[in-house]
Amino acid sequence: MEKIVIEGGNRLNGTIQVGGAKNSAVALIPAAILADSPVTIEQLPDISDVRNLCELLKEIGGKVTFENNTMVIDPREMIPMPLPNGRVKKLRASYYLMGAMLGRFKKAVVGLPGGCNLGPRPIDQHIKGFEALGAKVTNEQGAIYLQADELRGARIYLDVVSVGATINIMLAAVLAKGRTIIENAAKEPEIIDVATLLSGMGAKIKGAGTDVIRIDGVESLHGCRHCIIPDRIEAGTYMILAAACGERVLIDNVIPPHVESLTAKLREMGVKVHTYDDQIEIVRDGTPLKKADIKTLVYPGFPTDLQPPLTVLLTQAHGASLVTETIFDHRFKYVDELRRMGAEIKVEGRSAIVEGPTRLQAAKVNATDLRAGAALVVAGAVANGITEITGVEHIDRGYSGLVDKLRGIGMKIWREKTETEEETTAVGR
Ligand code: EPZ
Repeated sequence: MEKIVIEGGNRLNGTIQVGGAKNSAVALIPAAILADSPVTIEQLPDISDVRNLCELLKEIGGKVTFENNTMVIDPREMIPMPLPNGRVKKLRASYYLMGAMLGRFKKAVVGLPGGCNLGPRPIDQHIKGFEALGAKVTNEQGAIYLQADELRGARIYLDVVSVGATINIMLAAVLAKGRTIIENAAKEPEIIDVATLLSGMGAKIKGAGTDVIRIDGVESLHGCRHCIIPDRIEAGTYMILAAACGERVLIDNVIPPHVESLTAKLREMGVKVHTYDDQIEIVRDGTPLKKADIKTLVYPGFPTDLQPPLTVLLTQAHGASLVTETIFDHRFKYVDELRRMGAEIKVEGRSAIVEGPTRLQAAKVNATDLRAGAALVVAGAVANGITEITGVEHIDRGYSGLVDKLRGIGMKIWREKTETEEETTAVGR
């Protein structure tokens, strides 16, 4: 096992490159199952979720290559191989295999990972959509079994605005007979990105990015070439890091409107944010940070995935800030780790009150999920001394080449094998 080690206190300067969007990639790759000829996806991030999906498509007969961030998927010899467990349980977004395999093969068996560290991750809205399209769906020993004689278009109202359900229903509907309308759909940029790929394959989709998406089923879909959008959450993480420890940091490969809610919040806190066509510059001139209140909302509101890193920044702001998490039930678990670094945060249900400014002290901390890990990296960069972060496997799911990228803007950060690894090696010797 490895850990990330950070010697905090350095001022950050320079340019940092953002990769392709993880939350788009994990849907685009399964979407290729629907095509009857090869699909090429460019600028994919080289992260573990992408590599796991690459292997899963091979498990069902796909021919897949992934080099220099370009993936070529030939789906022609794929079969509806059941995937009840094994690799499919390594990533939450394996549920997109359901919509894609149901759409293409009219049947699928996909295992679901256990509980997540954000609280329950139900898929009732995904299943509601599949059943509306005519599928029979059962849950047997932790795997979802789907089967349909025929998929017919339907009008589906989502009881909860769900990114996953919106995309999964799109995947199942593009080859269905007739028109599907998804109401109360999620509007995240990743949904537009998946709709763009599907349209490039010949699907007929209108309204992606609004709360009503209309899909007219077609007979077949062909391969195409698609370039993924930049990762707005990776970009936002670096913006927050630069606001906390930067002097002048340029974030390259970002679509500024995708991070508008964060830009507005940082400006409210007194951070200088300059936006360009596909870059954002963060300038800190020593002006004290002002406290701010945030409430996470569905897009275009403030994204829940940036709540943990932003909360770390709020520990450096003058005054008491209120953070309200409206998307997930338990997204403050990382606060316990921040408290061990000296943060003064009081959590009450879905809200947290952050007192600042507090001097964070280095500590040995553990990342419980991907964005909690990102928050601990920001905290380690701010704290005085040497912070050690375990649970690096979570961070590697969403931040490709993180250590090298951060060293490139002046952070003292490196990876080490954990003591247990050394002990194991010693015993093994
Ligand atoms: C996506 O998760 C992202 N993951 C999450 O990012 C992100 O936090 C989330 O959207 C919200 O923006 C991927 O795209 C792979 P939802 P998803 O369905 O689709 C409830 C990260 O760190 N819900 O929009 O699973 C659900 O419990 C990850 O990159 C139902 O009740 O999220 C939650 O409270 C973390 N029933 C809310 O809706 C359902 O059938 C939003 O969930 C589905 C969801």
